[in-house]
Amino acid sequence: MDNVKTPVLEISSISKKLGGRQILNNITLNVYPGEVFGFLGPNGSGKTTTIKLMLGLLRVESGSIRICGHDVTDDFEAAMGYIGGIIENPEMYRYLTGRENLEQYARMYGGIGPGRIEEVTALVGLSDRIDDKIAKYSLGMRQRLGLAQALLNRPRLLVLDEPTNGLDPAGIKDLRDTLRELAHKESVAVFISSHQLAELDLICDRIGIINNGILLDTLTIEEVRNAGSGAGPLITVEIDPSTAENLPPFLESYRTDDPSKLTGQTEREKIPDLIYALCDSGVRIYSVSSARHSIEEVFLSMTSEYAPGGRS
Ligand SMILES: Nc1ncnc2c1ncn2[C@@H]1O[C@H](COP(=O)(O)OP(=O)(O)O)[C@@H](O)[C@H]1O
Ligand SMILES: [Mg+2]
Repeated sequence: MDNVKTPVLEISSISKKLGGRQILNNITLNVYPGEVFGFLGPNGSGKTTTIKLMLGLLRVESGSIRICGHDVTDDFEAAMGYIGGIIENPEMYRYLTGRENLEQYARMYGGIGPGRIEEVTALVGLSDRIDDKIAKYSLGMRQRLGLAQALLNRPRLLVLDEPTNGLDPAGIKDLRDTLRELAHKESVAVFISSHQLAELDLICDRIGIINNGILLDTLTIEEVRNAGSGAGPLITVEIDPSTAENLPPFLESYRTDDPSKLTGQTEREKIPDLIYALCDSGVRIYSVSSARHSIEEVFLSMTSEYAPGGRS
C-alpha cells in the first residue's frame, strides 16, 4: 500500500462499551483513496458498531476517527461532508419512483443538480428503471438505488454495511463491478463490511478481520490468499510412476501413497524451479496444479485461534 497517500479514513485506538460490555477493543486501521477495504467478521463481532461510530450514530468515547483529516467528534459536519453511507436497507418511499427518491435526498443535502442524479443513476446501472416506482424494484435494484443515494454528494468515503445481504450472485457481481469502478476511477475509498468471505475476496483490495471486537489483522488480498500456512500454495504434480525413483532428495517430502502423485507446499516464486528440478533429474511430469488457500480457510483459522470455543 502507498502509505504516502493521506488516508481518507483513520480509525485510531477505538474502544467502545455498550450496555456495560466491551464491544470494540482498541481498533486501529486506515483506508486510502481508491481502495476497496473489506471489514470481515462473524455476526456480532462489532462491524456495525464500528460503522455507527464512523457515521456519528454512536459517540466516540475512547480513541478517534478522522475522515479526510476531520475528527468525527470535534469537527462533525466537515467529517460527514466526505461520507456517503448506508446502514442496512436504506429508507425509501415505495410509492415514489427511483428518481423522485433521489430528488428527495438531493433537496436534503442541497447543492446537488439534476445532472448529478443522472450521473449516479448511470454509475449504478439503473438508468432504464429510474422512473419506475420503487414498489416494482427487486432487492438488488433497491440496493443500487441506495448506493446511488449515498453517492449523490460525491463522497470521498463510501461506507456500506453488509450490502450483499440478500443479493443473488448476479447482484453481487453488479455491485462488485460498480464499487471497483468507483474506487479505481473516481478515487473513492470504499469501506464495506461483510460476514461473507467469498464476496469480499472478489471485491476488495485489502481486508481487515475483526472478531470479538478485536482487529486481528489487515491484509492485502494477495496476503490473505497466501496466509493460510505461510508456506504458499499447495502444489500437486502428476508424474510417470516409473520415473519416481529419480525424485531429487529435496522433494522427498512430496511423495504420497500414490506413486504417480507428489504434493507439497511451496512459495509461488519457487514453482518454476521445482518443475525444472523434476525434469532435470528425469521425473516425467503429466500435470502440475496449485491450489490457493481460500480466504474462508484463512478467516476460520484466524478467528478460531483467537476465540476460545470458536470454530475450529
Ligand atoms: N446498543 C447495544 N447495547 C448493547 N450491546 C449491543 C448494542 N448494539 C450492539 N451490541 C452488541 O455488540 C456486539 C457487536 O454488534 P454489531 O456491531 O452489531 O456486530 P456485527 O455488525 O459485526 O454483527 C454484539 O454482541 C451486539 O449484541
Ligand atoms: Mg452488522
